[in-house]
Amino acid sequence: MQVHSATFIISNTDVSKCPNTAIPEYAFIGRSNVGKSSLLNTICNKKNLAKTSSRPGKTQLINHFLINKNWHLVDLPGFGYARVSKTNKKKFQKFITNYFKQRNQLVSAFLLIDIRHEPQPIDLNFMQWLGENYIPFSIVFTKADKLKPAARERNINNYTNKMLETQWEELPPIFITSSLHKTGSEEILTYINLLNKDFTETNPL
Ligand code: GTP
Ligand code: MG
Repeated sequence: MQVHSATFIISNTDVSKCPNTAIPEYAFIGRSNVGKSSLLNTICNKKNLAKTSSRPGKTQLINHFLINKNWHLVDLPGFGYARVSKTNKKKFQKFITNYFKQRNQLVSAFLLIDIRHEPQPIDLNFMQWLGENYIPFSIVFTKADKLKPAARERNINNYTNKMLETQWEELPPIFITSSLHKTGSEEILTYINLLNKDFTETNPL
């Protein structure tokens, strides 16, 4: 699938104010600074569509983008950002969990994970929470350009082994991306295209 058009629609903290359209939706979630907003820009081939920063905590709201006039891509704030106050962290958590629990249009989440790191409890816990709430998700490893192929493979295996050992019988779809080298977005778009077709078949107009 090619992205022909990508436009920003609305930002907010209240899931009830998200666009009231019954089109399929996908959300990028993951730790602060993992590269959610950058990947959104790479996928859409638009440099400054979503705001990015080298400092964690840049995205603070639920941001809806309309793609090809028929599906939404959502850029969410990161979790695990240490410099946000406890009260703010709670507020964040609340509106993000509300988003996931209440957004019926959400077809699948993409959990972004920095490929350089060992499996982190915060990510494994979040996967568990998604599973418990019946929210389908894929894993997207980011910043692949930062490692050589052998190290990439080793870290991905560490991750998948950890998942299989602890919580999961089967693995979700896994994507490997680099926003710097612009790799991995085609695979994600092909997957979204497939899910969009299923969505249209099960939700005819
Ligand atoms: P928050 O909005 O704070 O949650 O962060 P985010 O997950 O949206 O991260 P963002 O896209 O703002 O990127 C964070 C930093 O990582 C920026 O300096 C990006 O340039 C950098 N970055 C993102 N993706 C990649 C990548 O694939 N490779 C490299 N080398 N750097 C990346
Ligand atoms: Mg961001």
